[in-house]
Amino acid sequence: MPDLFTPITVGPYTLPNRVFMAPCTRCRADADLAQGPLNALYYAQRAGAGLIITEATQISQAGIGYPGTPGIHTEKQVAGWKLVTDAVHAKGGRVFAQLWHCGRVSHHAFQPGGGAPLSSSATTKPGLVTLPDYSKVPYPTAKEMTVDDIRATMADYRHAAECAMRAGFDGVELHGANGYLPDQFLRDGVNRRTDTYGGSIENRARFHIEATRALAEVWGASRVGVRLSPSGTFGDVRDSDPKATFGYVVKTLGAMGLAYLHIMEAMEGDGRNDGKPIEGYESIPASYFRPMFKGTLITNAGFTKEKAETYIRVGWADAVAFGVAFIANPDLPERFRRGAALNTPDPATFYTPGEKGYTDYPFLG
Ligand SMILES: Cc1cc2nc3c(=O)[nH]c(=O)nc-3n(C[C@H](O)[C@H](O)[C@H](O)COP(=O)(O)O)c2cc1C
Repeated sequence: MPDLFTPITVGPYTLPNRVFMAPCTRCRADADLAQGPLNALYYAQRAGAGLIITEATQISQAGIGYPGTPGIHTEKQVAGWKLVTDAVHAKGGRVFAQLWHCGRVSHHAFQPGGGAPLSSSATTKPGLVTLPDYSKVPYPTAKEMTVDDIRATMADYRHAAECAMRAGFDGVELHGANGYLPDQFLRDGVNRRTDTYGGSIENRARFHIEATRALAEVWGASRVGVRLSPSGTFGDVRDSDPKATFGYVVKTLGAMGLAYLHIMEAMEGDGRNDGKPIEGYESIPASYFRPMFKGTLITNAGFTKEKAETYIRVGWADAVAFGVAFIANPDLPERFRRGAALNTPDPATFYTPGEKGYTDYPFLG
């Protein structure tokens, strides 16, 4: 029976353990949204992960939604990420880039030519957006993407995938989760389109599937993963029938021979709005999707070592990604192996610049 330290195959790679690093935005890119030596050190410190999935990384300027988050569409950004991949490989690690388009979770201030952020439909995300100068204003109403906008975005996914290859990554993950652009197409609470990208589940899933294909054209499907959040309400996305919607996506992507599917369970805060329960909300465990997908299944969100071991032993997942625990414990797999205590995370420094709370968490002994 496999445990957390049984090697695992992901696409063409044999990885030494099943303790993966979940994508975690840290907002420490430079003014050109490029990574540098400090980011390389941070990722290299965590190279003991079976697989590192990087923080969400924009495929284009139109994909930006937060200050300080890195991109992978300019030469400087490719060079910055190359420092990271070289440093991780020098320590024997493997790293996939999480490719991201925020869609409506953005503002004119980030967009090319000061245009409106793009989404499946002209909706407005509730809440406040943090601008490049760190002031906060309400989210603007998004522009409904034309079919030409969608085609251009698919070209951006392809271009970013090519940039990721030149930057030395081992593969790429489509950020299909957490209320960002692909999720804004998938969920009927946001997607109000009446064309071939809206209405039926097949139509709403088209964006996810085309974006995955765009990445696979560059990398081959066996080096592409996809992250999904069937239980997620982050980003104010809702779906009237998440089991049917995500079941279709899992089965369709499952037939593509991907490196993995990364299916999140509910995160803290999911299913609640301003602290109040969302009516009809349903949390769907990874085990629900297991029979639908024969490939490598990663799960995540709120796992302890013990819970991860149970999932892997029972077969509900093949690997577990850890977010906050990896932020605070660069040597997390080794701590799990030895049954050692974990460092305490400092949420105040999750998104602040510099080394503090980034590269200064202590290693064991
Ligand atoms: C600081 C922080 C940044 C995050 N950034 C991302 C991200 O860039 N992409 C993503 O898919 N999820 C992101 N997440 C979600 C994590 O990948 C993960 O799903 C979440 O932390 C729950 O897992 P955990 O309980 O192991 O931390 C972020 C979470 C945190 C705490």
